[in-house]
Amino acid sequence: MDSTEQLIKDGGQYLMPTYARYPVAPVRGQGMRVWDPEGREYLDFVAGVAVNILGHCHPKVVAAIQDQAARLIHISNYYQIEPQVRLARLLAERTFADQVFFCNSGAEAVEASLKLARRHMKAARGKGRHQFIATHNSFHGRTLATLTATGQPKFWEGYDPLAPGFVHVPYGDLLAVEQAVTEETAAVLVEPIQGEGGVVIPPPDYLSGLRALCDRHGILLILDEVQTGMGRTGRLFAHEHAGIAPDRRAVAKGLGGGAAIGALLAKREIAQSFGPGSHGSTFGGNPLACAAGAAVLQVIDEEHLLERCQKMGTYFLQQIQRLRRFPFVKEIRGLGLLIGVELSVPGKPVVEACLREGILINVASDRVLRFMPPLIVGEGEINRLVETLERVLSGIS
Ligand SMILES: Cc1ncc(COP(=O)(O)O)c(C=O)c1O
Repeated sequence: MDSTEQLIKDGGQYLMPTYARYPVAPVRGQGMRVWDPEGREYLDFVAGVAVNILGHCHPKVVAAIQDQAARLIHISNYYQIEPQVRLARLLAERTFADQVFFCNSGAEAVEASLKLARRHMKAARGKGRHQFIATHNSFHGRTLATLTATGQPKFWEGYDPLAPGFVHVPYGDLLAVEQAVTEETAAVLVEPIQGEGGVVIPPPDYLSGLRALCDRHGILLILDEVQTGMGRTGRLFAHEHAGIAPDRRAVAKGLGGGAAIGALLAKREIAQSFGPGSHGSTFGGNPLACAAGAAVLQVIDEEHLLERCQKMGTYFLQQIQRLRRFPFVKEIRGLGLLIGVELSVPGKPVVEACLREGILINVASDRVLRFMPPLIVGEGEINRLVETLERVLSGIS
C-alpha cells in the first residue's frame, strides 16, 4: 500500500484541486477509529461529514453489502429492484412519506425535490408557480440549482448565470418568508438546522410557523434533512422535534451508513406528479446502496441508537461547556450529536492541532468547530475530545 506521503504527492498530481485536504490518509476504519497506512490511529468526530452514522464498517452494514455484492451489484431501474423496494417500505413505515425516489447524493435529493415541486405546482395550479424561497447561510449542494438555492455567495463565485427562480431570506425569520411569498412561489426550502452554515438552530416555533405559512398560501414545504436526518439529532428526522411533517424531504449522508445514496421522500399525492420518464438516475436506488440503507435502519432500531444519540448528545453538550472559559469561545449549541462551538477566531488551527493529537474534527463557516460523531460514540471518547480541545485551546492566545 502507498504511504501517506505518496498519497499526498499523487493526489496533488492526479486529482482536481476541489478540496483543501488535510495531510492524513485514513485507509481503514472500525467504529469511532480510523488508521493511516503507517498505522497511526485517529478518533473520528467528523464521520465522513455526518455520513458514517453507525461508525466505520459496522458489521451489519458490511455483511449486507457483501451479501448483496455477491448476488447482484447493479441492475437497471427498468426492473424491480428488491433492496430498493425494501428500503422504500422501511422509510415509508417510519415517516410521514408514502413514496420515495432514490438517487446518489444530497444535492441530487434536493434537486429532485425542486423538480418535483415545480412539476406538482404546474399540475395542481397551472402555470407560473416556479419560484423557491430559500435562506441566507444555507447549504443545499453543488449542482447548478442546489448551488443557487445555497444562500452563501462564496459558493457561487465563477458560476453565473445561476439558475433562475430563487430568492433568499434570513434564516429563522418567519416574517421575511411571509413577505417573500408571491403568486409565483412554489415552495419554501430550509434545513431544520443549518449544518454547513455553522450548526445554526432556528427559533423553536420556526418549522411549525413555516408549516402553517405554507398551508395558508398553498405552497410546499421542502425540508433538507441531508445532514440532520437518520438519527443525527436524536429523532430519525429533525423536523419530528417540531411535531410537523413537510410535504417532501431530501435525505442522504447517513442513509447508507457510508454507501452513496440519497432519497426524496414525499406524500403520495405529490409524488404522483412524477410520471414515468419525468425524472431518473442510472445508479439511483442501486442494490448495493439500498441493501446498506436497509441495514442502517435495522441497526438504528436494534441498538436503540436514537435514544443513545439523545443521551450522548446531552452528555457531549454538558461536557463541552468547559470550553466556555476561553474568551474566544462565543457560543456552544447543538441538538443530539450535531454540535457546534462558535469561535471569534478562525477554527482551522484548532482542527490542525487536534489532528496532531489524533482526533478528526471539522470547522464550518470558518469559525464554528463542528462535531458529528457516529451515533455509537461513548462517554470515554467524548471525554478525550473535550480534554484535547481544552489543551489545544489553552495554546491559543
Ligand atoms: C443540508 C445539506 N444539503 C445538501 C448537501 C449536499 O449533499 P451532497 O454533498 O451529498 O451532494 C449537504 C452536504 O453537506 C448538506 O449538508
